[in-house]
Amino acid sequence: MEQTAIILAAGEGTRMKSKLHKVLHPLCGRAMVEYPLRAVSEVGVEKPVVVVGHAADSVREHLAGRAVFAVQDPSTGWGTGHAVMSAREHLAGRKGLVYVLAGDMPLLEGKDLLKLGAAVEEGAACAMLTARAEDPTGYGRVLRDGTGAVLAIVEERDCDQAQRAVKEVNAAIYCFRVEKLLEALPRLKNDNSQKEYYLTDAVSILRGDGERVVPVEISMESCMGVNDKVQLAKAQRVMRRRINERLMRAGVTMIDPEATYVDDTVTIGRDTTVYPGCTLMGETVIGEDCTIYPGCRMNNARVGDGTTVESSVLLDCRVGSFTTVGPNAYLRPKAEVGDHCRIGDFVEIKNSVIGNGTKVSHLTYVGDADLGEGINLGCGVVFSNYDGKRKYRSSVGDGAFIGCNVNLVSPVVVEAGAYIAAGSTITKDVPAGALAIARSRQANLNGWVDARKAEGKL
Ligand code: UD1
Ligand code: CA
Repeated sequence: MEQTAIILAAGEGTRMKSKLHKVLHPLCGRAMVEYPLRAVSEVGVEKPVVVVGHAADSVREHLAGRAVFAVQDPSTGWGTGHAVMSAREHLAGRKGLVYVLAGDMPLLEGKDLLKLGAAVEEGAACAMLTARAEDPTGYGRVLRDGTGAVLAIVEERDCDQAQRAVKEVNAAIYCFRVEKLLEALPRLKNDNSQKEYYLTDAVSILRGDGERVVPVEISMESCMGVNDKVQLAKAQRVMRRRINERLMRAGVTMIDPEATYVDDTVTIGRDTTVYPGCTLMGETVIGEDCTIYPGCRMNNARVGDGTTVESSVLLDCRVGSFTTVGPNAYLRPKAEVGDHCRIGDFVEIKNSVIGNGTKVSHLTYVGDADLGEGINLGCGVVFSNYDGKRKYRSSVGDGAFIGCNVNLVSPVVVEAGAYIAAGSTITKDVPAGALAIARSRQANLNGWVDARKAEGKL
């Protein structure tokens, strides 16, 4: 059956107290609104209609190409029913199903929607998700008739005593037969305590027409709305659990999934172990058999197989297989580390290539450099890549040995197999196989200390 979807996101989201639009708040690596988009795509709706307010350019930009937009004009009314009316032109001439849901319900999944679609395909004018709330405060209450079909939804402020006691609440997720929704919309009225056009009134209107409205129950958790940052954190916790369970079922070991923060966008291979306190973000991809010890943050990092990373920050970078990184290494954008490398403690690498088997073991800065294979960098090597105005690039050939505390003043070329003596400041290229020493010669002034003391100067 033909189908479409309307996602409501014209509310102002004032309770977020944020400059960012409510539905663009990130939740486990994706803007909140992307989850309802995913849920409808799971039932086969590719370009839903997103209803936005006038000042929602950021939402349009974010979803450009993935949705079509309807703008709700508050000067002509307000409320969820009015929001759907604003999308009416996108329904005109259509048949089949239309799902209606809100942009602030990130935990809803496609499988929840499928049940609604099935009920409408079987002849209901509308199917809606409901949930049993311990504390139904704030929600619309679902009133059923003796057969279990829905009679009406009453908003809390419009409830009488008995209705208020009902614990079954409206999740505000529906599937309508398009023609029936279009028949009901013009009959919505705003004669309620909020002077809003309620979409929920479409239910009693359809009932009055003799149509059937089918309730489908889901968990409170799955239809939880996010209105403020406390709820955002709660939803994030649930989403995190889902992500981690998915990964563990696929063979990832997590020592403490409650304290492991993995974005929905991250890929991790089998038999990789992730310790607590790691935050893996963006398009990060970690291979198999890796060990990610506590305290790592990765964003858009690619890590091969069998690599170990500890207490390190990896941003927009690549690390090969069977390499060790950290503790306390900082791999900045465009760091590309090969296989069987060792990137040790307090090493910072930026916009540089580190060839296979090269060791950068301690206290070193590699910026804008190309390092070949099998190189050893001693402790405290610095690539001086910046003269205050411009950045320069250096290169080091295969098998070179750079002593401790060497400065390479870029641009310089150190050819394959060259050695550089500890403490050197290299400003000229070093030929293959040469030893470069670039430091002043040591002089020992024998007896100097005693003589100074005798003069009373020490
Ligand atoms: C709505 C339901 C209520 C249900 C609850 C579940 C109605 C009248 N009530 O109440 O029965 O229990 O959700 O969370 O539908 N929106 C617009 N334009 C508007 C108003 C709202 O786009 O004019 C959007 C909001 O951005 C939001 C969604 O619709 O994404 C829901 O609106 P909200 O005001 O939060 O509805 P509730 O009062 O919570
Ligand atoms: Ca709400």
